[in-house]
Amino acid sequence: MPRELKGGPSTSAPARISIGDLATVIGRLIGRPLEPEVETCRIRPPASEVERLCADAGRAAEMLGWRAEVDVERGLEATIAWIGDNLDRYHQTAMSSEPDHRRIPLSVPCLEGNERAYLAECIETNWVSSAGPFVGRFETADAETWQVDPAIVVRYLTEGCEQRGGAVHDRSTGRRVAAVLPAHILGHPVDMDPILAAARRHGVPVVEDAAEALGATYKGRAVGTLGDIGCFSFNGNKLVTSGGGGMVVTGEAAIADRVRHLTTQAKSDPVEHVHDAVGYNYRLTNVQAAVGCAQMDRLADLVEARRRIAGHYRAVFADVAGISFMPEASWARSTFWLSTVRVEAETAGIDRHGLAAVLDAAGIETRPLWQPLHHSPAHAGARALGGIVSDRLNHEALSLPSSASLTEADQGRVIDAVLTAVQ
Ligand SMILES: Cc1ncc(COP(=O)(O)O)c(C=O)c1O
Repeated sequence: MPRELKGGPSTSAPARISIGDLATVIGRLIGRPLEPEVETCRIRPPASEVERLCADAGRAAEMLGWRAEVDVERGLEATIAWIGDNLDRYHQTAMSSEPDHRRIPLSVPCLEGNERAYLAECIETNWVSSAGPFVGRFETADAETWQVDPAIVVRYLTEGCEQRGGAVHDRSTGRRVAAVLPAHILGHPVDMDPILAAARRHGVPVVEDAAEALGATYKGRAVGTLGDIGCFSFNGNKLVTSGGGGMVVTGEAAIADRVRHLTTQAKSDPVEHVHDAVGYNYRLTNVQAAVGCAQMDRLADLVEARRRIAGHYRAVFADVAGISFMPEASWARSTFWLSTVRVEAETAGIDRHGLAAVLDAAGIETRPLWQPLHHSPAHAGARALGGIVSDRLNHEALSLPSSASLTEADQGRVIDAVLTAVQ
């Protein structure tokens, strides 16, 4: 009795069809024309061997019970469709029935937009270095609490500093206060108004570290644009990446010129290579800018994705004793770059070190909150104010996987692992 491929067609083939011809037909059917190059002299066996190996269609049909029904082209067409359908079904089954042990990363780039197309454009147009259309486009793109306590900053500028020789100095150390540098951490803005007002009163510039908060707004205004200078990071783990590097934004043309000068090697004569200051090679390449442009195209979507992930964590952990989700102030729109929880060991029955270890064993990446600067060896001896809240957060806060591409299933794994650990 002739047998048929279950669900798939069987084909009638001419006695001889070359692999090249077959590949060409398949390429046409799947919409990706192929032009196979066959080095016949290298792969063709001697004629006697071909004779021996060549399947005889009639004999094969007799031995195997295959029944030829359609010609090669129609057969391949149906086979490709069948494989497509069945692969989908296979994947769905695999997803739903098998436990998933893949490691869930903390925060990875989401490169699902125009990145590939823009990079191809760089290569096709030969603009891969520090000049090219994407550089200009990226540089002119719209720049569109657990934060520093503004009261401490205001009190320090007012009581801890004095004016001397046209500059502000720390009363106890005598050191010049060059700038106030509030860092908007985890995607949430600092309460900027009191800081801006005090800094203006004392004539101290404000440099915002908005590395973690691109896309966040403070009272409707974009962070990074509130002070004299704003700094952003486009490192791979950030909300928007260009593969590395960052950006300085400012409303002051003189500052912009100075920053541009220092970051492009401070050359006053580019032909004779005369450097009028110690400069830096921080040039943005067209390739980086192309990735950055494609990412910025989707800034709003990337922010929404992180906010959705945060909203889900917040809702699920709302009633879990000992776990509290990071706040969002009424005047803030956070990006929730990293969704972070506080783990109160006494109530949760586990501290953040223990929870991190349990999650790590379950293949889930987490990260504690930054070491407060007053504990940093690099800043030993520097004057510190406050620190109670940052110490507590340093001991209790843990950032959970927050990539914009985090799937519901993966977030479910994270949540299940946390709930199991704290109950
Ligand atoms: C608050 C803050 N400032 C600065 C940086 C430095 O950014 P980059 O890694 O692009 O140098 C980071 C990076 O993680 C950061 O989180």
